Amino acid sequence: MSWLYRCFIRPVLFQQEAEKAHHRTLENLAWASHRPFVCDAMESFFATPHLPVDVFGLRFPNPVGLAAGMDKRADAVPAWAALGFGFSELGGVTWHTQPGNPSPRIFRAIADEAIVNRMGFNNDGAEALEQKLEDWRTSGLWPKHPVGVNLGKSKVTPLEDAAEDYASSFQILRELADFFVVNVSSPNTPGLRQLQDKAALDRIMAAIQELNEGFGEKPILVKVAPDLSFDALDEILELAQKRNLAGIVATNTTTTRPETQDETARIVYSETGGLSGKPLRARSTEVIRHLFRQTKGRLPIIGVGGIFSADDAWEKITAGASLVQVYTGLVYEGPTLAREIVCGLMEHLSREGLTDLKAATGLAVK
Ligand SMILES: Cc1cc2nc3c(=O)[nH]c(=O)nc-3n(C[C@H](O)[C@H](O)[C@H](O)COP(=O)(O)O)c2cc1C
Repeated sequence: MSWLYRCFIRPVLFQQEAEKAHHRTLENLAWASHRPFVCDAMESFFATPHLPVDVFGLRFPNPVGLAAGMDKRADAVPAWAALGFGFSELGGVTWHTQPGNPSPRIFRAIADEAIVNRMGFNNDGAEALEQKLEDWRTSGLWPKHPVGVNLGKSKVTPLEDAAEDYASSFQILRELADFFVVNVSSPNTPGLRQLQDKAALDRIMAAIQELNEGFGEKPILVKVAPDLSFDALDEILELAQKRNLAGIVATNTTTTRPETQDETARIVYSETGGLSGKPLRARSTEVIRHLFRQTKGRLPIIGVGGIFSADDAWEKITAGASLVQVYTGLVYEGPTLAREIVCGLMEHLSREGLTDLKAATGLAVK
């Protein structure tokens, strides 16, 4: 199916402007999501083997998740499980509704299998997401895998009020998702990445954890930028214990640009925004390896950045990730990607003589 997608479906999709293609795809998946028989058919077709992982108190049917930003408005919640994903991360959502940056704001560097985006947290706001999630739950179509929500900061909220902005979204969504990711690493909201600074992040985590305590305590993770120095990552790790972080999502998109031979890619790289896909892979793995080493594997890591195959996912897992996520790989490789990664991971495990993924986590870190 991957070759079918690459040879026939992708060229047609890529004829369209990137954001339009994204909307069309989401519309189709939303349509399917409201029809249980279509989701059942998808589930049989994409039949992904069981490769369970237990992380931060949740059971994941397999370790391959949908990364944040693909389904910002929770339009296709059941479809992600039907495509074989072991979990999904919805959002980024902000407290206030906001349009994001003007279009065009997604650009494909096809030769390098990369994307540059400057979406700027376009979303309908936390209250609209709350309604959507409640509707999915009451419809009986809620998926049988963990669902997370990615929390961003509203553009209108000054940086000094960021903690209340994140906490307000968390408060109304708390009961509706299984885990939450505090996104302080998007390059597309002015000043947002300054919130990775220890004192600022401490205030945000304190505000969220105050609302979290005594309510069954949802796992709260922080998503970091690949452009942080190891020292800055270490500062975030210091907070992890103090504020009871469940884990780290590594990484978001990068503001750096790779060397390229391709003229069209060069033009895309001159656009402002975050770069994802193949050129991000190595740096993201480096960050994961550092985090795993520093924490001696005690803090779960969700590895994301440039995963296009089972080998890429295996690289992230053996560098220290307990779970992985894909975004750009899904755009380039198509809907069979989750299944292909899970099948390939099982082959890796049997080749290494291992029985579960836990044993593979951090295997390559000395
Ligand atoms: C168009 C687009 C929108 C994104 N939106 C978000 C977002 O809202 N929140 C977030 O934390 N990450 C967002 N991301 C980053 C992805 O979740 C992921 O961390 C990054 O793309 C690296 O993974 P990849 O190489 O598999 O794409 C977005 C990425 C893209 C391409």
